[in-house]
Amino acid sequence: MLTPCLPAEIERVLVTEAEIAAAVDELADRLSRDYAGRHPVMVGALTGAVVFLADLMRRLDFPLTVDTVAVSSYGGGHETSGELSWGKALSTDVRGRAVVIVEDIVDSGLTLARLRAALTEAGAADVAVCALLSKPARRQVDVPVEYVGLEIPDEFVVGYGLDYAQRWRNLPFVGVLRREVYA
Ligand code: PRP
Repeated sequence: MLTPCLPAEIERVLVTEAEIAAAVDELADRLSRDYAGRHPVMVGALTGAVVFLADLMRRLDFPLTVDTVAVSSYGGGHETSGELSWGKALSTDVRGRAVVIVEDIVDSGLTLARLRAALTEAGAADVAVCALLSKPARRQVDVPVEYVGLEIPDEFVVGYGLDYAQRWRNLPFVGVLRREVYA
């Protein structure tokens, strides 16, 4: 089989489409065992989680509510600012509900720690996190991530929802961005 040409800014594929699909299937199986009958609120963190959320929710065959929030801890560059900027708030009343935060990636954990706290404060009965990717080497806060698809090394990755300066979210795989693009 021919190897498809990579865009010039992408150094290599880190997680293939098939590996992503397998990870999503496994996460969906675990969520199905834990949440069937509980009608959870799946809260996708915009914008990065849109692709993962769309794939994951179609593999869940129990009643659930889907909502999104827009929180961002990055500007146009690649280093976290540590500050959360809030765009879209929740549309759902989560009081007494089981909530699953759906994230594309957990890096420093700052975004997630603040989002978890906000959802608990909003009255959620319990809050869990389902992240496709996790970079444990980058963690700055000790935040629980109950469902992790794949642990990845500390490389700047884009694709499958993840961006660099809003680019490359539409790649179907997760790729490593060439250092000269952002350094
Ligand atoms: C990314 C990603 C997570 C967060 C993880 O979002 O989607 O939400 O960063 O980083 P952290 O663990 O260091 O907080 P980003 O703020 O880049 O916004 P985006 O989803 O719109 O790309």
